[in-house]
Amino acid sequence: MAKKFNIDLDLEQKVDALISQMTLEEKIGQMSQVRHFDDISPEDIKTKYIGSVIHTQGPLPGSNAEEWQEKFAMLQKHVLSTRLKIPLLFGVDAVHGQNTYEGATIFPHNIGLGATGNDELVEKAAAITALESKATGFNWVFSPCVAIPMNEKWGRVYEAFSECPDLTSRLAKASVKGHQGHGDTGVMATAKHFIGDGATDFGVEGGNCSLSREEVVERLIPPYQAAIESGVASIMASFNTLDGIPMHAHKALITGLLKNELQFDGIVVSDWKAYSRFGRNDIINAGIDMVMAVDGDLDDFQEGVKSAVLEGVISEDRINDAVRRILRQKFRFGLFDNPFPDKSLIGKIGIPEHRAVARQAVRESLVLLKNENQVLPLKKNSKIAVVGPFANNSGLQSGGWTINWQGNTESYQGATTILEGIRKFSSGEVIYDQDGTAEVDDVDVAVIVVGENPYAEFFGDIGGEMNLFQLTLTEEHQKYISNYTEKGIKTVVILISGRPLVITEQLEQSDAFVAAWLPGSEGDGIAEVLFGQFDFKGKLPHSWPKSVEDYQGKFGPNYWDNSIEPLFPFGYGLNYQKNTSS
Ligand code: BGC
Repeated sequence: MAKKFNIDLDLEQKVDALISQMTLEEKIGQMSQVRHFDDISPEDIKTKYIGSVIHTQGPLPGSNAEEWQEKFAMLQKHVLSTRLKIPLLFGVDAVHGQNTYEGATIFPHNIGLGATGNDELVEKAAAITALESKATGFNWVFSPCVAIPMNEKWGRVYEAFSECPDLTSRLAKASVKGHQGHGDTGVMATAKHFIGDGATDFGVEGGNCSLSREEVVERLIPPYQAAIESGVASIMASFNTLDGIPMHAHKALITGLLKNELQFDGIVVSDWKAYSRFGRNDIINAGIDMVMAVDGDLDDFQEGVKSAVLEGVISEDRINDAVRRILRQKFRFGLFDNPFPDKSLIGKIGIPEHRAVARQAVRESLVLLKNENQVLPLKKNSKIAVVGPFANNSGLQSGGWTINWQGNTESYQGATTILEGIRKFSSGEVIYDQDGTAEVDDVDVAVIVVGENPYAEFFGDIGGEMNLFQLTLTEEHQKYISNYTEKGIKTVVILISGRPLVITEQLEQSDAFVAAWLPGSEGDGIAEVLFGQFDFKGKLPHSWPKSVEDYQGKFGPNYWDNSIEPLFPFGYGLNYQKNTSS
């Protein structure tokens, strides 16, 4: 059982004193989270007693960090002019760096951090994310995702650290500590999505998780327990169903397990538009404390809950519990004393020291799957062809949740690409063959970069609603490789992807193969390892599939099931030192 957060009696008294002064409308207002642009005017923020503001995809709060801070400070001033002066929480989907702000440091997505297995590094990355989020006006991030993905067809595999509860728990702990534990630059972290998000049948985002209660507890709960023990401020409910019940309305798991058994005393926040999607007042009765009342849900939510309380459908105690949890975190994170963003942090966004940590994370995340014929490390004076659009595009190398919700297909400010890194290190000729068809027969080696276009959430599901992606490389990307191998040129393949893909044939064809995940803004870190300045350290955070046939059942090859033999097991990874898996 999780260790109970030390009760701070003084703080609890302050919270209770405030609650005792609040009207029902003010309490429901605290439970409301709105978008900063479409749902509400600054005046409404006051009159509807809003508790929190979210920024995610959509119009930006301004054109630079100063303007973002000013916009949020203006909203904060509005609520601070109300009777009870309860400050707002500003939340953001900063899931691999402050990825909603162009120019911030963008870290590898969590799957890459899982491959590093380095908790100190994860803590540093989270602390930098917190600082850069704070510098853009936020005090709350919706990260880390601590899912245990069990099927690569799920479009959010990359948001999670790994398929292994032990590794994920260790990194979840480091991430929460990094986000929250660094004094004035800390922000509230969110463990998400509770529970079963990555373990739905056939990897469907928001689908049904049919694991038994024992399996849920054994496989999925440990990272939440670790996050709670580290004092995580909030936990987000998941879109999926479990036992046929939408998780948002699952009282036995939210109130029974999470709040009572695991003694989580923070905020259970809903996911997007949950009130109208998952059973209205049922979600409040199940234990949701704060609701993303977005995209037109706000009035319906506030009026619906008010009537339900007046009719006795929701108890006042339940409302008080929700408000208590929200206010407790506002006190804990010093919002009453320090409600405004700190201008002095702006100059720290994307600074070289932060990028150096991100570059280290890129280097340590790379998993070497094959290295034959002495193709790696690359020689500085070799003549090298660098192949494919993914080699020179920081948008493509960063995946979803980068500048935009669905990611970017173009390069963005402050980032470096894989090609730029290779050019920095090479003293020989480097030819860029963007579409894999250049007439280059006399190069010593081709570095071919293949991958998945960026995606987020259900857009990335394979075989789902959108069905935009596949478990194999596209024909075009397969050709980049065969064009070179057919010429007898040595090839190093770099795979940019949010999950393991079926690459069995391409692995055979190539001399070396590197899983690089979604490295983020510091693409040049890859070259430091390719040229042997650093050794490979990354280990597979997932079992690697051998064939699309591996996906006939509910789950792919995974940590819990050895009936589907993987091509490479969890933990596999070669290096220069030994060139064997250790
Ligand atoms: C996602 C969450 C995210 C939220 C807010 C949802 O669609 O599932 O992970 O934090 O949007 O943007």
